Amino acid sequence: MTGEISSVIGGKQAAGGTDYDSINPSRVDEVVARIRLADAETFSSACRTAAAAQREWARVPAPVRGRVIASIGRLVEANAESLARLVTREIGKPYAEALGEVREIVDTCDFFLGEGRRLYGQTVPSEMPDKNLFTFRVPVGVAAVITAGNFPVAVPSWYLVPALLAGNAVVWKPAEYAAASAEALYRLFAASGLPDGVLNLVFADGAATFEGLEAALDEGTVHKVGFTGSTEVGRRIGELCGRHLQSPCLELGGKNPMVVAADADLDLAVEGALFSGFGTAGQRCTSLGTAIVHESVHDEFLGRLTRALAAAGIGDPAGDVLCGPLLDHRFASRYEEYLGWIQPHHEVVSGPTGRITAGNPRGDFTGEGGLYYHPVIVDGVRPGDRLFLEETFGPIIGVTSFSTLEEALELANRPGYGLSSSVYTTDPATAFRFREGIGAGMVSVNNSTSGAEAHLPFGGNGRSGNGSRQSGMWVLDQFTRWQAMNWDHSGRLQKAQMDVVEIVPDVNFRL
Ligand code: UN1
Repeated sequence: MTGEISSVIGGKQAAGGTDYDSINPSRVDEVVARIRLADAETFSSACRTAAAAQREWARVPAPVRGRVIASIGRLVEANAESLARLVTREIGKPYAEALGEVREIVDTCDFFLGEGRRLYGQTVPSEMPDKNLFTFRVPVGVAAVITAGNFPVAVPSWYLVPALLAGNAVVWKPAEYAAASAEALYRLFAASGLPDGVLNLVFADGAATFEGLEAALDEGTVHKVGFTGSTEVGRRIGELCGRHLQSPCLELGGKNPMVVAADADLDLAVEGALFSGFGTAGQRCTSLGTAIVHESVHDEFLGRLTRALAAAGIGDPAGDVLCGPLLDHRFASRYEEYLGWIQPHHEVVSGPTGRITAGNPRGDFTGEGGLYYHPVIVDGVRPGDRLFLEETFGPIIGVTSFSTLEEALELANRPGYGLSSSVYTTDPATAFRFREGIGAGMVSVNNSTSGAEAHLPFGGNGRSGNGSRQSGMWVLDQFTRWQAMNWDHSGRLQKAQMDVVEIVPDVNFRL
């Protein structure tokens, strides 16, 4: 057992009420950490502390803040293996993927350390002489960041790093079931020399967080909410922020389609479907939802994918496997509900379903003590099926077929999410037509639906989010506001629109 952990507000451990045990999902009897959960008042007091610390932090020159981000990147890099091992132990992410996740934090720091020396504003010509116009990016204030546990360290860094760089203070509420990983990341940030109160860590359940957030919004101590999680909770957060005239940064679920055209390289498509459907046990928001396969290659694609899945390793995430256990008990029982959506008109082509046990083994793997589940391929999903329409977080994908690209696009857009998407084709015209027609924020061509790089805009539309984008320069619009300044040094009042010199054209001139 790693020990007991609690919230850290203003650099000090905060008292907690109820306890929560974060377990190792590959050995559910092993407690990784006992977490002291805070109440709503603790959450809102963290927001007050952050608001007080933010004023000083915003005065630190941006290039100096950039150096702090550089230190965070170095510290994460120097601790990469131990952080990745902790992620694997706490949420069951295969070690190679956990290392990739840690790398994504370093990439994010690499990008933003330079932004400390850019954070450009503009000089803009005025319509009057002896007057100058400028724009400045100013921090929003305090960001409340609420994150999921499937990417317990990389996705939080997408919020934390740019928010801090831009001069904001942060109250971070990570998922309870990934609390030890979050606390380790917090300690790496703290070791960079961030002043106390600039980054605060609050462990709380959903209800206390919501209540504390509402109080903080009422008090005016939170100016931006960042949320990664389900569409359902995202809607509630969006409503709450809307009532406070705020627009949150929402990164929600996905039902990510992969269209396999008749001319696709099928082996490549199968490799992409295998990784995005079953890597991370299908628990990325970018995981494959439905493979939409041209009718002429449907049977061949399905046969190859089924064989590839049968050969894929499922087991101890510390080893070289495609798929480890589900994140925790809650995710496992929800996944069992999704399995209940399989209907008589579907064909499960992958073999047994449900939890892997001695009575329901996968070859000689009995899943002893862990939340391991059989990976599932369901052929014949139809547009009205829940399995087709809803996100199914876990190792399950649907397969259907199409005849024209228009039909494929209609199917791909039907569920109304819009996070990631992919098309496999050897025809550039198909790739570009797919890009134009798909409603997703992210499009892969001859690549899987998952694995976005850290410096492109990440985010979705429709049920996947409100159009906000993370990563790269685009996320700066979430954590800064534009301030326009004009400076008149003419010594007189020059009235805009009225005192503007007019140059009169000869409108009747003709050649
Ligand atoms: C998520 O699951 O919330 O693009 C994020 C990807 C990863 C991030 C996933 N870089 O699959």
